[in-house]
Amino acid sequence: MTRKVTANLYMTLDGRGEFPKYPGSDLPSGDPDEPDEFFRKMWTDRYSDVTTVVMGRRSFTGHLRVHSLKARKPDAPKFMFDYSRFLERVEKVCLSHRLKKLDWENSRLLKGDLSKIVKKLKNEKGGNIIIEGGPRLIAEVLRLNLADDYWFLVMPVVFGRGPRYWYPMKSQTTLKLLSASHMPYGELVLHYEAVREKTASKRK
Ligand SMILES: NC(=O)c1ccc[n+]([C@@H]2O[C@H](COP(=O)([O-])OP(=O)(O)OC[C@H]3O[C@@H](n4cnc5c(N)ncnc54)[C@H](OP(=O)(O)O)[C@@H]3O)[C@@H](O)[C@H]2O)c1
Repeated sequence: MTRKVTANLYMTLDGRGEFPKYPGSDLPSGDPDEPDEFFRKMWTDRYSDVTTVVMGRRSFTGHLRVHSLKARKPDAPKFMFDYSRFLERVEKVCLSHRLKKLDWENSRLLKGDLSKIVKKLKNEKGGNIIIEGGPRLIAEVLRLNLADDYWFLVMPVVFGRGPRYWYPMKSQTTLKLLSASHMPYGELVLHYEAVREKTASKRK
């Protein structure tokens, strides 16, 4: 069976890849050991299907620093430990021209043409693939429409700074909305699938 490629996007309303402070940004609203609904949709619900997580160099080193099992603070909620254990278990693909080796077990360095990299990964054996970021990598994934589906977490903040998701593009990428839900603190979780055919805008 073909491996599904999913891209995750976490952004403010103005398309910045930051996690700003806002009511609800700190702790889950109920049991602190249980993930919020957005975390379940973006991660927990998919743990069993995913065997590869792809990250750009900055995102990879950031995850190693914050989310690897050895970096996890002892008082962190259980669901964050579960996330770390998930990351330890899956193969992590780090995209980089600069790095020569990786200090995280079960990880692999790749570089070059992103379309070819995604095609190669899809042809390998394994479960589904998540492309996790950062924003620059994801912008390229969207520009080339390389993912089968896209999960957006849109936070209710106009931030005005931080890494951007959106850059000028020569052609549009059209997506089909599969589901939209809003979270208790005003985040939107939007799930889209890729539309492969050319659907040029006919608006006059
Ligand atoms: N909101 C979010 O979802 C999110 C997620 C992750 C990170 N972040 C934040 O965003 C910032 C980093 O994001 P970013 O977008 O600047 O960086 P990024 O996408 O994580 O990393 C960019 C780097 O990835 C490498 N890369 C990308 N495509 C490649 C390819 N095809 N072949 C080889 N290397 C490739 C390059 O590394 P080399 O320079 O080594 O070639 C490039 O400089 C951080 O501040 C982080 O905290 C936000």
